[in-house]
Amino acid sequence: MPAVVVVGTQWGDEGKGKATDQFGQNVDYVVKFNGGNNAGHTVVIDGEKFAFHLLPAGVLTPGVTPVIGNGVVVDLDVLFQEIAEIESRGKDASSLLISANAHLIPSYNRVLDRTTERFLGSRQLGTTGRGIGPTYADKMNRIGLRVQDLFDESILRQKVHAALDNKNSLFLKVFNRPAIDPDEVADELLSYADRVRPMVVDCSLLLNKALDEGKTVLFEAGQATMLDIDHGTYPFVTSSNPTSGGACTGTGVGPTRIDAVVGVVKAYTTRVGEGPFPTELNDEMGERLREEGGEYGVTTGRPRRCGWHDAVITRYAARVNGLTDLVMTKLDVLTGHEQIPVCVAYDVDGQRMDEMPLTQTDFHHAIPVYEYLPGWSEDISTARTFDDLPKAAQDYVLRIEELAGCRISAIGVGPGREATIQRHALLGD
Ligand code: GDP
Ligand code: IMO
Ligand code: MG
Repeated sequence: MPAVVVVGTQWGDEGKGKATDQFGQNVDYVVKFNGGNNAGHTVVIDGEKFAFHLLPAGVLTPGVTPVIGNGVVVDLDVLFQEIAEIESRGKDASSLLISANAHLIPSYNRVLDRTTERFLGSRQLGTTGRGIGPTYADKMNRIGLRVQDLFDESILRQKVHAALDNKNSLFLKVFNRPAIDPDEVADELLSYADRVRPMVVDCSLLLNKALDEGKTVLFEAGQATMLDIDHGTYPFVTSSNPTSGGACTGTGVGPTRIDAVVGVVKAYTTRVGEGPFPTELNDEMGERLREEGGEYGVTTGRPRRCGWHDAVITRYAARVNGLTDLVMTKLDVLTGHEQIPVCVAYDVDGQRMDEMPLTQTDFHHAIPVYEYLPGWSEDISTARTFDDLPKAAQDYVLRIEELAGCRISAIGVGPGREATIQRHALLGD
């Protein structure tokens, strides 16, 4: 039975939360494998809105076991706040499991994230300020703290001291800030130990056994392909691997066990934070997309930058992730345009490029080459089959499918769970 990975194909906020929730009852486990509470995933059920930062979106479906994989970085304070919030709304998060090898976001890394951004000034990345980058840096520098360290006080204290030895010099001498007391940090983390202990698992063993038993496992990415530390628009990226390979390293499930990789793609494009964005619209049309699409960040509330669909990026995402299917979201937001431009290639200093440019410099200079597709004016929010869509909307979907080189298996026409057109089954075909 299937192991299915759900990834973002653009710069995030494509609707991964809704897509994950949609798999619903057909899934046994929903696993987050990368990122942390920089993510904001929205699910709307019967008009009620849920926003998740750390909890896998599958937590809303009874019977689904939500898992936080080793590739995730966990802010314990945020985790328990989120659990309390959904429980106060009558949902059950008691089956949540967490990998013993997931890394913890200590408070000093939130401080470091925000201070570093301030020091970068006009060169800042526009991070979410949640300590994500410094925590992944600590992991790579081998001075990180893991969930399992919560259960050995002496090791945890030693590790916090080791990390802060270095960072306190930076805070004091470079950033001109007070030093942080390692024992206070350790005490705060240890205060969560008893609550975390029952949730801790060997994530790799758990998921491989589940797959052996014929269970269905869904891997839910945070962030997206163009924010990937290796494959995105570096340095304007996050610090993890949100692409499909991250599902393997971030959970301990080998690539031969993955059956499908589903890429979620908005009908247009958005981006939060700094960095290149060839199809960005810095005009009234950009404003219109932002207002009609409700494009404001779930995590930081920042307005999202908006632009037309960039099929070069969608094709790139199909390749980098090995996509088997695309789920297109927010087609309804494009209703009411006479024509809809789609970027099919770039013009870089007079030369046409059909694929992602090799270098950052060329991507910064990329000017979109647009194809203009006819728009539609009919309300499509109640469409439930492909045939319910006006011809122009069908043609828009089919053209992007052709440009991406990957079938579009589902189409979102509204935020609600029910507002979806299914073209091909995503599990088990
Ligand atoms: P994620 O981070 O990829 O899970 O996406 P976000 O939740 O940050 O942003 C996607 C937004 O679009 C949310 O507000 C969703 O409720 C909404 N959404 C998802 N699919 C659709 C759709 O097909 N149509 C409309 N109008 N909204 C959608
Ligand atoms: P979901 O899962 C959109 C962006 C930030 C910033 C860059 C680095 O909801 O799609 P970080 O705090 O990760 O070091 O910030 O990445 N970013 C996102 N943008 N959606 C997200 O998550 C994002 N997570 C990080 O805005 O530009
Ligand atoms: Mg989001």
